[in-house]
Amino acid sequence: MKTLAVLAREHGTIESMAQRFEVEIARIPGGEEVDAEALERLLGFFELEVDGHHQEKEERVFLPRLLLRAPSEEARALRGLLDDHRAQRQLLAGMRGEIEGVAYGDGGALNALLHNARRYLTVQREHSRWEGARLFPLARLCLSRRDDHAICRGFRRLETNHGHALWDAAAALVAWLELRRAPASA
Ligand SMILES: [Fe+2]
Ligand SMILES: [Fe+2]
Repeated sequence: MKTLAVLAREHGTIESMAQRFEVEIARIPGGEEVDAEALERLLGFFELEVDGHHQEKEERVFLPRLLLRAPSEEARALRGLLDDHRAQRQLLAGMRGEIEGVAYGDGGALNALLHNARRYLTVQREHSRWEGARLFPLARLCLSRRDDHAICRGFRRLETNHGHALWDAAAALVAWLELRRAPASA
């Protein structure tokens, strides 16, 4: 099912960026110099690409179609997806406020950012796992080929509005992160 292939590929990319984020925040307790710009760009990826792109596909296209087709006893669990997304959004908003403090050298903001970033990574990963284990099998069971095509059309529409694929945004950010570490040429 093409819909699930797209979502699963995005989950894979999101996990690889979660690992990048983890590397950046792991430097904080060790007292290494904090790269506020790298943290800011990674946070921007989770805001714009994960919350604003991937989860928009799920909320506006995938979930409504699945709710139409799934047995009614599944509806409550399916709507839990929206609660998870909301919880992630709140953590992102918290981190957005804290990162401004970090840029000004506020140690308290740095600790709060570290705490929220760890929490965000945990809930984000649990959520992707839940979707893979619970949502995807249900979709395979309930959605027809026609549904699959309709969802893919909806995904393409959102992607056109967004301007690029999530994995292209990730690749551009990885290139920036790598370049940052490369020694300057003479
Ligand atoms: Fe989701
Ligand atoms: Fe997802």
